[in-house]
Amino acid sequence: MEPTFTHNKMNRIKSISESVIREMTRKAEMYEAVNLSQGYPGYHTPKRLLAAAINALDNDHNQYSITWGLEELRVGISEKLDKFNRLDYDPEKEVTVTCGTSEALMSSILAHVDPGDEVLLFQPFYENYVPAVCIASGKPVFTGINSDMKIDKEEIKTKINRNTKAIVLNTPHNPTGKVFSYDELKFIRDLCVDNDILVITDEIYERIVFNGKHISLASLEGMREKTITIGGFSKTYSVTGWRVGYAAAPIELMDEIRKVHDYTTVCAPTPFQKALCEAFKVPAQYYKRMLEYYKGARDHLYSSLKSLGFEPFYPHGAYYIMADIDNFGMNDIDFANHLVKDIGVAVVPGTSFYDSGGDDLVRFCFSQPRDDLEEAVSRMKRLRTFSQ
Ligand SMILES: Cc1ncc(COP(=O)(O)O)c(C=O)c1O
Repeated sequence: MEPTFTHNKMNRIKSISESVIREMTRKAEMYEAVNLSQGYPGYHTPKRLLAAAINALDNDHNQYSITWGLEELRVGISEKLDKFNRLDYDPEKEVTVTCGTSEALMSSILAHVDPGDEVLLFQPFYENYVPAVCIASGKPVFTGINSDMKIDKEEIKTKINRNTKAIVLNTPHNPTGKVFSYDELKFIRDLCVDNDILVITDEIYERIVFNGKHISLASLEGMREKTITIGGFSKTYSVTGWRVGYAAAPIELMDEIRKVHDYTTVCAPTPFQKALCEAFKVPAQYYKRMLEYYKGARDHLYSSLKSLGFEPFYPHGAYYIMADIDNFGMNDIDFANHLVKDIGVAVVPGTSFYDSGGDDLVRFCFSQPRDDLEEAVSRMKRLRTFSQ
């Protein structure tokens, strides 16, 4: 991917390529492949949420909600942020319900990144970040997450200058499964405080942590004022199609985000907002079982990939595995096309997560139902490694 920095609006949009992840889903359908590309959660949606959605439709919650989101939902999000993330946000002025985490990210970036502003992204990155920065006429700047899953503090320092407006931080991280440590977050905190940099945190996988602990950056001293905390319901409750997420930030930052949100979406889908008010009543057991389910899937796919000749990275959170494909003698695009067409398994080519690099990697998603994972592994037994 070659993001082009230009003030010309048409070129800017034209230079953004279509989402490779969503393209792979279309190919999976075309070739009747098992789809391990896009992050569809295979764990069941809590029944009380499904019942609440039907109830909301039946009971006439079918029109626009207030732009910032239903008050009951904002209060629920604010209480969850307090209990789970140790963050204190006023539901009235500092929490906005958005059309998914995706819109919260886009609205935050459009609201706060001006033409020429630099935005630091960790690569590999979730593919929506680069287009969002480019659409805002900002300039994406990249720093690596190394193969040992560590960030490079010295490199990061060299990427910061007076044009650096923001850092996008995703923990747990898609696609590597990295969970940022307290030490790393403290380093980022110091950097942002010293250089007056904003952080947009994408915490959509906060409930899917197998090793380590999820820490919200905004909970570190000095960071509340400098952070936009973003999260969503898609992955935790297996409702990716409902399109409900949120942004939480101090009033001064939130005021601007609300303007972008208002004029792009008006509001998130009302019946699903209403249904998700029930999310906060889901018992603790649900989260525990979901985690066990995904942990089992991670362990199964990780060991299967190793025995099939891949060199997978071990994820500590989220539900993806990046794997090195050196043993198969193809680049990521050729390999992904071969896998979907000839073997019947869809994955995402590594280059879609990099500004430069990634052609020796592919990403597997292990959130799919267990039968699908087993079928994919069985199909991949037909793959030939270079040495065979
Ligand atoms: C890191 C990350 N952020 C955001 C999203 C999109 O989330 P939502 O469905 O809430 O828009 C995804 C979806 O895969 C993701 O992996």
